[in-house]
Amino acid sequence: MKKYITTPIYYLNGLPHIGHAYTSILGDVMKKFETMRGNEVYYTTGTDEHGQKNQHSIEESGLSADEFLTRQSENFRNLFVDLGIDFDYFVRTSRPEHKKIVQEILQTIYDRGLIVKKSYEGLYCEGCEQFKKKSDLDENGCCPDHKKAPKAISEENYFFRLEPYRQWLIDYINTHPDWIQPAKYANEVLGMLKEPLDDLCISRPKSRVWLGVELPFDHDYVTYIWFDALVNYISTLNYGHNPDFEEIWANSHHLIAKDILKPHCIYWPIMLHALGVAPVRHYFIHGYWIGEGGVKMSKSLGNVVDPVEVIRLLGVDALRFYLIHNMTLGGDSQISIPMLKQGYKILANNIGNLQMRVLKMTQKSLDGKVPSADSLNDDDKKLVSGIADRFTRLFSQELSLEVISELADSVVKAGDAVNAYFAANEPWVLAKKPEQRERFEAVVYTTLECLRLIGLAMYPLTPASARKIEDSLGLAQVSFKADFTPFKLAAGTTVKVGDPLFPMVE
Ligand code: MSP
Repeated sequence: MKKYITTPIYYLNGLPHIGHAYTSILGDVMKKFETMRGNEVYYTTGTDEHGQKNQHSIEESGLSADEFLTRQSENFRNLFVDLGIDFDYFVRTSRPEHKKIVQEILQTIYDRGLIVKKSYEGLYCEGCEQFKKKSDLDENGCCPDHKKAPKAISEENYFFRLEPYRQWLIDYINTHPDWIQPAKYANEVLGMLKEPLDDLCISRPKSRVWLGVELPFDHDYVTYIWFDALVNYISTLNYGHNPDFEEIWANSHHLIAKDILKPHCIYWPIMLHALGVAPVRHYFIHGYWIGEGGVKMSKSLGNVVDPVEVIRLLGVDALRFYLIHNMTLGGDSQISIPMLKQGYKILANNIGNLQMRVLKMTQKSLDGKVPSADSLNDDDKKLVSGIADRFTRLFSQELSLEVISELADSVVKAGDAVNAYFAANEPWVLAKKPEQRERFEAVVYTTLECLRLIGLAMYPLTPASARKIEDSLGLAQVSFKADFTPFKLAAGTTVKVGDPLFPMVE
């Protein structure tokens, strides 16, 4: 059955940063993991192109809205392509097809009497694009996320009523324990649902904000952010015009960080419920990347990690691997250039060195040919089968954040085990003793075969390196399928030494 995986769509007033790169890489790792298991995946990521923040950036840029949005959106798209992210569709909410579906949905919900117009006075945080309650603010009366005092605004707007659906949502969460993962965030949502829910303001007067989708029932207003952005998840599937919508939606997975928990886990399921559409199948929620030492990344502290800079310094795969390997589930994780370099060393010393040493040995002492597996002893077989079993088990589990994190961990552990085996068996000593020829060949075969299995498992995480490993083992045409049947590397196959996977960096 086809799976549908989405990331948030990102505001494009600034450049893409490490947090955006992370969620979109994670979605790609999930897609590749699923594809290896033979499942078809439709994966989307993209940009959120409406709202006051984007509007201000357009006004400051001196460009037309279209020029600005296209240029900014391309920055995200190009970075994601450079990061090896294989999205099937790049969402842009400025596209007419999306706007049309937003309007259709608004009209349906309006016709059901669920949207009302009323006058509203409130404190508006532009950073969050949301009205705030006094209790949401810090001791200085500022938004805790944006450190700015919200503006007092009084205007007439349209509102969507959430409260009538609160109990339904509480019951849904309680009866679907794996809906919001990790469970910690389900509890957070339940906590938010303890108090009655305020009506959700879904419009802005055009006199204040012009960058949005015009309300179909009042041309003086636009909608943006949640009633616009969230709808991307179904407008992408051509909701309302696609007979296969239900089938793919039944297998949908939203990947988000904790910052947008409330809109995704409260507003969105209620919007869908009002429309008569089932909620998303799963939410996968991750924490935040913060600077080394636990401080927030900021330009003024000079600790912002720029993905483009990391690619230049360490390459795409090192960044992908670090992000997946080091994200603490259900918590925040630290990142800095020195930490990334440390992570790079793990890859270089563990997998990179092993690959180079065994290939050079095969080249030098075996004429570049994979030796026979005929004389493997029990320990050799146990090592290969153990790694094969571990990856087989891992790839047969249901998709989750835990499984993806376990995958990175298993690659490192398998690399450690093979390195320890290689060191203990000293094939470089065996190579010099003609009477140990069989043993030497067995050790080289075992190492090469383990490397093949590790390379295969690495594909979702580090696709370019996985390809290089398979290529170096004479398996250039390999398609990455989660078949970890051991001892498949054929004797006599010609290996290629090639360039190091993870060359030395300063
Ligand atoms: N446009 C809205 C989302 C609409 S989705 C229907 C938005 N955009 S955003 O640009 O602020 O992106 C927020 C998302 O970016 C987070 O949920 C997360 O996926 C990613 N991240 C942004 N900063 C991050 C970190 N520091 N760490 C990890 N992920 C982060 O909200």
